[in-house]
Amino acid sequence: MILLFIFTFNIVGSFNGSLDGIPVAYKDLFCTSSLSTTCGSFMLKNFKSPFNATVINFLEEAGAIMIGKTNMDEFGMGAANVYSVHGPVYNPQSILFDENHFEKNDGDQRVAGGSSGGSAAAVASGMCFAALGSDTGGSVRLPASYCGIVGFKPSYGQCSRWGLIAYANSLDTVGILTRTVSDAQMIYDVISKFDMNDSTSITPDVRSINSSIPSFFKLNSNTDDLRGLRVGVPKEYFVSELGESIVNLWKKGISYLKSHGATIVSVSCPSTRYALSAYYILALSEASSNLARFDGVRYGHRSEESNKNDGMLYANTRGGFGKEVKKRIILGTYALTAGSYGNYFLQAQKIRRMVKSDFDRVFKRPNPLRFTKKDSGCNENKVDVLITPVTISTAPKIEDCLTTNVNNFINTYVNDVFVVPASLAGIPAISIPFGISSIDGFPIGLQLIAQYGDDDTLLGVAKVLEKGANQK
Ligand SMILES: *[C@@H]1O[C@H](CO)[C@@H](O)[C@H](O)[C@H]1NC(C)=O
Ligand SMILES: *[C@@H]1O[C@H](CO)[C@@H](O)[C@H](O)[C@H]1NC(C)=O
Ligand SMILES: *[C@@H]1O[C@H](CO)[C@@H](O)[C@H](O)[C@H]1NC(C)=O
Repeated sequence: MILLFIFTFNIVGSFNGSLDGIPVAYKDLFCTSSLSTTCGSFMLKNFKSPFNATVINFLEEAGAIMIGKTNMDEFGMGAANVYSVHGPVYNPQSILFDENHFEKNDGDQRVAGGSSGGSAAAVASGMCFAALGSDTGGSVRLPASYCGIVGFKPSYGQCSRWGLIAYANSLDTVGILTRTVSDAQMIYDVISKFDMNDSTSITPDVRSINSSIPSFFKLNSNTDDLRGLRVGVPKEYFVSELGESIVNLWKKGISYLKSHGATIVSVSCPSTRYALSAYYILALSEASSNLARFDGVRYGHRSEESNKNDGMLYANTRGGFGKEVKKRIILGTYALTAGSYGNYFLQAQKIRRMVKSDFDRVFKRPNPLRFTKKDSGCNENKVDVLITPVTISTAPKIEDCLTTNVNNFINTYVNDVFVVPASLAGIPAISIPFGISSIDGFPIGLQLIAQYGDDDTLLGVAKVLEKGANQK
């Protein structure tokens, strides 16, 4: 162990900071100048960025060492990580070995979850200390729950998106995957800085308004005493599709927080039921416009056929996208056409606003983005955090996610139902491993959600909750 450390310090050359010699991995949509960045797509098979993403520079300055880039759903589009040009990601919890240590394929392999499935699998199997993913509508929290690790999505704009290939700009956030909440905090402390290169990075002004609002936990506080903390249980999250094991663990999580002094309150977020549909319309509309740049001129692969038939040049070039991505581009383009803009895109924007006000209504802390002088600070009858499930089931089988059955397509979208509301509102959320299913033995996570800018309270409560996972 000691030898190993000396070795890694030699690679870096000197002691740098809090992450010296720590091995990390990056989802393959973070630009790196040393390795290619494929986004899981044939479109980018020859792409190498001239620069690193800002968050990677921050981690390298602190001494972290990249062990590799991780697989993902093509352009982040998927909840199971089965749509990648490199093939699906297997959930490490479902990989069996025979007596010769060869992998045994029993047809029962589970997905790692998407779209940051490679990052989750790398952390869950112990290949690295932490991995960066991106969370547009649950892409970090979902795989974390399926693989039995921690997945943290900070407030929108907290960590720079410069150098992260966009799926839906108004929703994309950098996410952190680790085995424990304190590990996630170590990475978060290094990357949550203002960056001029990202126009959506939270400005120093908003950061200072935010800091003037009291919050339950201060940075890096380590206490198990939750007296005075109010935890909300949103009743709309009790959906009929929810597995029994998940409901039981959710209840166990609630009682655990209560046993540490927290007050539990039932709250209502009535717009939750529309969030999923609104999310897909908004995310796909933004994606259709983002992915338009892959036309083979500056970005994207250029078809070999291009010289033979000019008329087919564009069509052949766009053929480099996978089936799921094409489907999403078509849906997004449709939502933005003159005839459906008013019926779909605008309605979805209204729902997004309703989802945000639902959250602002339940949280104690006012939202620093909508803070006005007449706000009288915190409302003590409201809550600090919400506790909910992450998924409706444990990790599905790879086979079931690859079939072309229409119902399965819809089912994979439904998996996002608990994770998209926090994405639409841009507020911080974290998935914490909380046990295994009594039916199939696969991991189950619980989600905590906090007000915008209150990432420290979220992490503080998460540190307490994760200890409850091993309690009978
Ligand atoms: C980041 O950029 C520097 C300078 O171009 C390069 O040496 C380093 O390898 C890059 N990091 C990664 C992870 O590619
Ligand atoms: C911002 O972008 C410029 C190039 O446009 C680059 O030189 C600089 O390093 C970037 N800043 C960070 C913090 O990555
Ligand atoms: C927002 O304010 C809270 C409480 O003062 C603080 O703990 C947190 O770190 C702040 N977040 C940012 C981004 O400044």
